Amino acid sequence: MNVNRRVLTLDEFTLQQLRHIPNATGELSGLLRDIGLAAKRVNVEVNKAGLVDILGDAGSVNVQGEDVKKLDIFANDQFTGVLHHGISCAGIGSEELDEFVAFDDTVSCQSKYVCLFDPLDGSGNIDVNVSIGTIFGVYRRVTERGEVASKEDFLQKGTQQVAAGYIIYGSSTMLVYATRRGVNGFTLDPSIGEFTLSHPDIKCPPSGKIYSVNHGNFFQYEEGVRNYINICQNKTKATGGPYTQRYIGSMVADVHRNLIKGGIFMYPGTIDKPKGKLRLMYECNPFAFIVEVAGGKATNGKQRILDIQPTELHQRTPMFIGSKDMMHELESCTGDK
Ligand code: AHG
Repeated sequence: MNVNRRVLTLDEFTLQQLRHIPNATGELSGLLRDIGLAAKRVNVEVNKAGLVDILGDAGSVNVQGEDVKKLDIFANDQFTGVLHHGISCAGIGSEELDEFVAFDDTVSCQSKYVCLFDPLDGSGNIDVNVSIGTIFGVYRRVTERGEVASKEDFLQKGTQQVAAGYIIYGSSTMLVYATRRGVNGFTLDPSIGEFTLSHPDIKCPPSGKIYSVNHGNFFQYEEGVRNYINICQNKTKATGGPYTQRYIGSMVADVHRNLIKGGIFMYPGTIDKPKGKLRLMYECNPFAFIVEVAGGKATNGKQRILDIQPTELHQRTPMFIGSKDMMHELESCTGDK
């Protein structure tokens, strides 16, 4: 058998990566395996979401006599559960929870990493069968191993991420994760129930033809952003266009598409919400890390997303992310870096 011809599973791939890192302990591989397991469980429930009227609505008891949970709560419980029961994670922060959770058992206190995640982003899209996702960022704890993790472990700059990724529950289910070594995508093969390497070494094209923004807020954006959107709308063949506007309202799906095809995604501040909507720790930092490793760029309009010093777990930030050349053109309109 020619083993090189066989498609690698997520576990096989992460273990193979260890061969390149002499001092690696395998803890990050373990954590990614745990996340992959939770993703498969969430995927099963997401696929049944259209059956909610048959199987029972959130808060009710289903035909099997089980309590039905909202999908985002279910997802939160799954990711929290696998990370707690694994041996790599000292605590979690979740978009669904007000405070971070430091695991205080002996094994968890010895663990090397903390994980911040949005268990089900775009959950407003569930009812209409549109792609949704999970987003996560992994940080090496800064407190001593053996202690219970504390706030400083969770409030680290995005530059400190050792890995970040997302799962997209779409026409197929994919897990994409980045370390400093590269970005790789794995598609769930339902026939064997494994994520298998389908998109090795993803690179974000330096330019593209897609811009993604909520046009409904156009007149709430600052002038520079409006100017850039006007440029996007007026692109011709001679200036690298025409551009296409694509906005799903599910960041995982929008950024995933732009990462693969080239494009720019924007969630600017508005007059009503100057800090925008997206959360730095759960949505922006992981995607900024992934897209930068893939060769793209991410800013809040003033500074690099990954350089923002977080002050609170749930803080929001404007977000501009995507292909490098498109980001540069945006910056020439906003006058920012
Ligand atoms: P939610 O999880 O509450 O549905 O929010 C989704 C996020 C993000 O994924 C998406 O890009 C953005 O909100 C869409 O917001 P708007 O509807 O305001 O454009």
